[in-house]
Amino acid sequence: MKPVLPDESSFPADGTPAEKLRFLVHWGVLAPSSHNSQPWLFIMRDDHVAIHADRSRALPVVDPHDRELAISCGCALMYLRVAAAHYDVPVRVYRNTEEESDLLASLYYDESAPAQNALAALFECLPKRVTNRFAYVEDSVSEEQLSLFAEICAAHRVIMRSYHDDFARHAIADRISRSDRKQMASKAYRRELASWLHHNRSRSLDGMPGFTQGMGEFMSLAAPIAVRTFDLGEGQAAKDLELAEHSPALCIFGTNKDHHSDWVRTGEALAQVLLVAAQQGLAASFLNQPIEIDIMRTELAKHVGLRFPQILIRVGKPTRESKHTPRRPAGVVTIEATEPEDFEAFQGF
Ligand SMILES: Cc1cc2nc3c(=O)[nH]c(=O)nc-3n(C[C@H](O)[C@H](O)[C@H](O)COP(=O)(O)O)c2cc1C
Repeated sequence: MKPVLPDESSFPADGTPAEKLRFLVHWGVLAPSSHNSQPWLFIMRDDHVAIHADRSRALPVVDPHDRELAISCGCALMYLRVAAAHYDVPVRVYRNTEEESDLLASLYYDESAPAQNALAALFECLPKRVTNRFAYVEDSVSEEQLSLFAEICAAHRVIMRSYHDDFARHAIADRISRSDRKQMASKAYRRELASWLHHNRSRSLDGMPGFTQGMGEFMSLAAPIAVRTFDLGEGQAAKDLELAEHSPALCIFGTNKDHHSDWVRTGEALAQVLLVAAQQGLAASFLNQPIEIDIMRTELAKHVGLRFPQILIRVGKPTRESKHTPRRPAGVVTIEATEPEDFEAFQGF
């Protein structure tokens, strides 16, 4: 399902800042999110758009602290920034440092903000990028590409480590498959996952249709029931072990602190890396399992020397194409603000 986007000529070039910012949300919603839960709301004010966590779309079992939820919103923030750069909408980002707030970040219209040419160049990848869970061609990522990804992350104060030799990949793959077994053994985990798995013809505007896992019609109908009912951990562990050990590169994103604003920045870095990878003909998919279980996260942190691992992806040239997942349209997730906002907790960047 290809996302439906407004055509280029409908950008309100002579419109108010609010009209321009509202237009960007069409691209913000294309961001990746955990289970395609799309846990965001875009609150419009005269001079800015605020990104709020929609905790009614949280994943309390796999993501009990809403960490991946905030990372997903950080991805949406980067998508907005790329669209702003493309349409020459001058914006400045503010991230909320208050821990319990639903308000995660805001994008202010600011005439004095510098042009973001590097981000503008990624615009055409916004509707193209997809998570690709199929096999990747061996050795299809170069050292230069991995260094570029790490540089992008560093600019967001996120550390990215990459692994491509057999020994390093095996050590991480082993942790992924052990985590698969633990997660799938939990009925609550399986029930939550099954509720976001949809059959291929579903009209649902969120979640993951079976085709994202390579399933045909029948399998996509049966999968949610099978996942809910049976512990398929052994099969999942074997599949992920194979994928991870043969990934051209495994990349782990980490931060030195573990606050909401670190999660948002991780999302921005992640989205930019995914878009640059797409621009270079590469794809990525997620193998976050060892970061989603607290005890495994601590073990992984020690193993890779990152204080707080946040995201684990594999990157490479895919052997087959993957289709787009659905999205809730901009109109459904955009809200016109009625109350003034508290500015004090923001930290500039
Ligand atoms: C923070 C975050 C965590 C994710 N975790 C996983 C994961 O553990 N396993 C997985 O297969 N996909 C994961 N994904 C990918 C999402 O399922 C995917 O982005 C979503 O289904 C939308 O599809 P798309 O990326 O093709 O647009 C994650 C994405 C984000 C942003």
